[in-house]
Amino acid sequence: MSQHDASQDQPQWDIETMLVHSGRSKRSANKSGGIPNIQPIHASTTYLHESIEDLDQAFNGTTVDGEPAFVYARQGNPNATGFEESMARVEKGVGAVACGSGMAAIHIALLAAGLTTGAKIVASQDLYGQTITLIRKLFTTIGAQLILTDLSAPTAVDVIRDEEPDIVYVETVSNPLVKVVNLDAISAVAHEIDAITIVDSTFSTPYLLRPIEHGCDLVVHSATKYIGGHGDSTGGIVISATNVLLDQLRAYQSLTGAMLSPFEAHLLQRGLRTLPLRIERQCQNALQVALFLQSHPAVERVYYPGLVDHPQHELIEQQSSHKLYGGLLAFDLKEQSREAVFRFMNRLKLCISATSLGDVFTLVSYPPIASHRNQNAVELKDMGINPGCIRVSVGIEQCDDIIRDLAQALAE
Ligand SMILES: Cc1ncc(COP(=O)(O)O)c(C=O)c1O
Repeated sequence: MSQHDASQDQPQWDIETMLVHSGRSKRSANKSGGIPNIQPIHASTTYLHESIEDLDQAFNGTTVDGEPAFVYARQGNPNATGFEESMARVEKGVGAVACGSGMAAIHIALLAAGLTTGAKIVASQDLYGQTITLIRKLFTTIGAQLILTDLSAPTAVDVIRDEEPDIVYVETVSNPLVKVVNLDAISAVAHEIDAITIVDSTFSTPYLLRPIEHGCDLVVHSATKYIGGHGDSTGGIVISATNVLLDQLRAYQSLTGAMLSPFEAHLLQRGLRTLPLRIERQCQNALQVALFLQSHPAVERVYYPGLVDHPQHELIEQQSSHKLYGGLLAFDLKEQSREAVFRFMNRLKLCISATSLGDVFTLVSYPPIASHRNQNAVELKDMGINPGCIRVSVGIEQCDDIIRDLAQALAE
């Protein structure tokens, strides 16, 4: 445990208080008269130690007292460690490993879970497109087997039991159609067959959902999204439920050079402090936007788990904290064509037509040219992604302004 997380001392604190105080120093003063409340950015590739004995000990990753110890930046830095400790604490894991991007985090999670020649992975068919591409390019090419199926369907448990995979991989909420996965059911059947469950919880964040509390083994985030929240930092993190997996994650992070830089870690740690406020506002705005779109004549269908007619509305009510349903939604234009979507996107004035999500600004994207660019028309059809499908990551702006902008872009 580092000196840079005041929240670590206070197990009774609520998650909101823990997040506000994450990464803040817990000692009020030292011999030189004071230490910064906020952890400084440690821009150094190497770390000095009192003696060669201390350096020798530091190579193990901790001091003799169990404090984090640093030797060389590829093996970790104090800012990334602070961020890892904050995330592990709020996600209820034994530890976490921070990476330079969400994709790097997914890569080391798959390696740590044992995806290799002869191993089988069952994954949601609607995973983030790049995750599917990563599994295909790096793992199925060396003889791993990938089974893609709809893990939000009631048959998910039977499919996992029949396939007997080594790994089950899901996203809490799918992209872009926001299907919700039953984590209790999935992790229970995975444990029955000794499979490791990896959950990409990017869209839920620990404020809405903590997969380890639902029996899952590894939790992955693209911290680039809601965790950072301001569109200015790229990072990823894997939180582990067990020390065995944590050791594997640390080894693969260092070997693949997947570490998070001190500056990005500083920004992501800062993002955590306002996460609950941002998420609450984004979720409230998203529900209003979903209701507006549902009543609009140019819109065929709205996908948002907060709507009572969403197939997993009840599940998300049980699974998610605070009766909030997320900041992400999708909708189909009545006119199901790329041209109609491009026309709509080009008319937007406030909402930003860009590919990321989870930022303070409302971001609108067209999955077939962005997150699902590597999927062909047949695969998109199988996933239920129509040519008129538009994804909205709702921001924290005044909601009436977001709705006014969408309305003018949808107008004939
Ligand atoms: C659900 C999800 N997981 C992982 C990633 C990859 O994250 P990054 O872009 O930080 O590598 C993304 C990116 O959009 C994503 O949406």
